[in-house]
Amino acid sequence: MKFETPAGTNPIDRQMVVGRPRARIDGPKKVAGTAPYAFEHARDVPNAAYGVIVGAGVGKGTIRSIDLSAARAAPGVLAIVTADSAGPLGKGRMNTVKLLAGPAIDHYHQAVAVVVAESFEQATAAAQLVRVDVARIKGRFDLEEGLASAKPAPGDDGKPEARVGDFEGAYAAAPVKLDAEYTTPDHSHAMMEPFASTARWDGDALTIWTSNQMVDWGRGDLAKTLGIPKDKINLQSPYVGGGFGGKLFLRADAVLAALGAKAAKRPVKIAMARPMMANNATHRPATKQRIRIGCQQDGTITAIAHESGSGDQPDGGPEAAVNQTKLLYAGANRLAAMRLAVLDLPEGNAMRAPGEAPGMMALEVAMDEMAEKLGMDPVAFRIKNDTQVDPSNPNKPFSQRQLVRCLTEGAERFGWAKRNARPGQVREGKWLRGIGMAAAFRNHVNMKSAARVRLVGGRVVVETDMTDIGTGSYTIIAQTAAEMMGVSVEAVEVRLGNSAYPVSAGSGGQWGAPNSTAGVYAACVKLREQVAAKLGLGADAVFEGGQVRGGGRAVPLRDAGDLSAEDRIEFGALDKQYAFATFGAHFVEVAVDAYTGVTRIQRMLAVCAAGRIINPVSARSQVIGAMTMGVGSALMEELAVDKRFGLFVNHDLASYEVPVHADIPHQEVVFLAEADEKANPMKAKGVGELGLCGVGAAVANAVYNATGIRVREYPITLDKYL
Ligand code: MOS
Repeated sequence: MKFETPAGTNPIDRQMVVGRPRARIDGPKKVAGTAPYAFEHARDVPNAAYGVIVGAGVGKGTIRSIDLSAARAAPGVLAIVTADSAGPLGKGRMNTVKLLAGPAIDHYHQAVAVVVAESFEQATAAAQLVRVDVARIKGRFDLEEGLASAKPAPGDDGKPEARVGDFEGAYAAAPVKLDAEYTTPDHSHAMMEPFASTARWDGDALTIWTSNQMVDWGRGDLAKTLGIPKDKINLQSPYVGGGFGGKLFLRADAVLAALGAKAAKRPVKIAMARPMMANNATHRPATKQRIRIGCQQDGTITAIAHESGSGDQPDGGPEAAVNQTKLLYAGANRLAAMRLAVLDLPEGNAMRAPGEAPGMMALEVAMDEMAEKLGMDPVAFRIKNDTQVDPSNPNKPFSQRQLVRCLTEGAERFGWAKRNARPGQVREGKWLRGIGMAAAFRNHVNMKSAARVRLVGGRVVVETDMTDIGTGSYTIIAQTAAEMMGVSVEAVEVRLGNSAYPVSAGSGGQWGAPNSTAGVYAACVKLREQVAAKLGLGADAVFEGGQVRGGGRAVPLRDAGDLSAEDRIEFGALDKQYAFATFGAHFVEVAVDAYTGVTRIQRMLAVCAAGRIINPVSARSQVIGAMTMGVGSALMEELAVDKRFGLFVNHDLASYEVPVHADIPHQEVVFLAEADEKANPMKAKGVGELGLCGVGAAVANAVYNATGIRVREYPITLDKYL
C-alpha cells in the first residue's frame, strides 16, 4: 500500500481497541521467565557449548602473534577462533570496524578471539590463558585535541553546513546575543540484557538467535561478514531486553557465536560479559557544542547557529546534534554545522534519540540562558519563536505541530506561574529549590514496513520481523490487527522477530511503533478484501465482534476459512510535502543540597504531541523511561575516558551510574489528543525517544533556577558547582 494522500476515515478511527490502555501481552511471560532471550534457547539447542570473547587490551595496535597453546590445553576447550583461523571476513554495512580484530586492533576490547568450551566456566578460564602479543600504536583518544584539526562533517543533506540567510550579519546586528559552549560526555546504552547470541549450523545453513533491534539489517550484515548468502541465515530476535540503539547493528557476539559454532561443530552461545560491553560495542559519542543566538529586544530570534564537534573511528560519522536546531524555532538567519574528529576510541554510533538527545541538552539550555538575558519568561520566549513551517523551506509545513499547546498546557499543569524567575531564591532548610523547563523535539521518520496476516479458524495470526525491545510491539500490533479484523486482542496471535517473516521497519529512531503497525494495517486491508470477497460481501463490509456485516447480512469471520494476506506500507508524495516531527514540553522541579551540591529530582512532567497514541500504557512507559534516562544524562551518566590508553574506564554497572527508582520520585505524562492524518493510516507518530529529548536540559535549567550556578559541562556532578 502506497500511502500518498491523507488517511481519511478508516477502521482504526473507531478506536475500540487501538488508542485504549492495555497491559503488555508479553508481560506475564517476562515476569514468569518464559519469554526466551537470545541466550536461553535450550529447547532448540540442547547441546550448546559456551563461547567467551577475548577483547583487545590496548586502544590501538597490531597483533604480532597469538599464543593459544595454554588455552587449547585447558579443560573442556572445544575450539578457539581468531582472525587467522576464521578465514576472510567481510564488514557489515552498518559496522564501522571489524568485529573480529586482526592484525590491526582498532579499539580497546575489540574482539581478538573467541574461546569455546563445554561450560561457561571452562571457556572463561581458558580465555584468560590466551596470550596476545601486540605492538602498541599511539592512538588518538582526546576529543578536544582531535577537534582542533577536525574536518567538517556532512549532515543528512550531504552538506557540511546548512545555511539560511546571513547568520553572521544578523548576529552582529542583534541587540541581544548569546554565545555559549556546552559539552556532553560519551554515554553507554547500559541495557539490561547483554549482547547475546546462540548459533546453530545445519550443514551450510545458520540459525542464529540474537538480541537485535533490526532483524533484516542484522541478517544482511551477518551474511556479508561471514561471506555466505543471506538466504542461508535464519535470524531470530523474538524478545530483546533493551537495546537503546546499541543493538541496531550486528555485533561481535553474533559473528563469534557463528564462527565458534562452525569451528566447534556444535551450537554455541555467547553472552557478552558486562565489563566488555561499553568498550567492545558502540556508544553515544561525546560532543562539544557552540550555540549562538541573536534576538531583538522583544525576544524575536533573528539569528541562530548551532555547531557541534564529535569524534569517531576513521570510517565513522558525527553525532548529529545540530539537526533539531534546523527545525525547532523560527529565525531568518541560520547556521548548522558539524565537525568530526578522528579518534581511536570504541565505535561511536546511535544511542536513544541520537543527535537530538545531546543536541537538545545544549539548545534548550541556551534558550533558557537567552530568555534570562531578555528578561523574558522561558515558556513565553519559546512560544514567541514557534514556527509552523520548516524554517529553511517556507513551503514545507509540519504535518502537525502543537508545541505551543504542549508548553502552555505543561506550564498550567505544573504550576509554572509560581516559579521564582530569580535563581537561588527559594530555600527550605538546607535545600535550594528550583523549577526548569525545556521544549521536546524529535524527528518522526516514515519507514516502509511489511507484515503477513492470516486467518486461521477464526483467529488472526500476524507475522512480521518487527522486534519488541521492551517497547510493547507485540501489544500494539495485536491491537491494530484486532481493530482491523473486528476481533478481540485475545483472538490475535503476534509472531515477531524472525527473518522468515516479512521485513518490517524494525525498532529504532522511534519509528518502530507507527510504521510497523501501519504495515500490519496494510496487510489487514488486503485480508479484509479477501474475506469480503469470499463471503460475498461488499467492499464496505464492517468487521466487528467476530462478525462481518454487509448488505443486511452478518457472517461469522471464521466462515471465511483460512486465508493469508501480505502487504507493505510505503510512502510517497506526503513524505516530501511535509516535515514530520513530534513535540513536547518538559517541566522539572529539583532540590539541591546547599552544602553538598547533591541534586534530588522532586517531580517531572512531560506533555507530548506525537499523533495518535496507539496504547497509552506502553507509550507512557516509553516516555517515563526516557525521562529517567534524561535525568541520567543531566546528573550522572558519563563514560570516563582514559586518554592515555584509550578506553572507557567505568565499563560496568557499578561505576557507570544510571538513575534508580529512588532517584525518580514522581513522573507525569500527558498526551495531547492528536491524530496525524498525513503520517500514515494509523495517524500515529513516534514517541519513545521524544520523552528523552529536552528533559536533561529541563533538569539543568531547574538546577540553575535553584542555585544560580550555570553548568555547561554535563553531567552536573557535585564538582561542577565549585
Ligand atoms: Mo534508537 S538509538 O534508533 O534504537
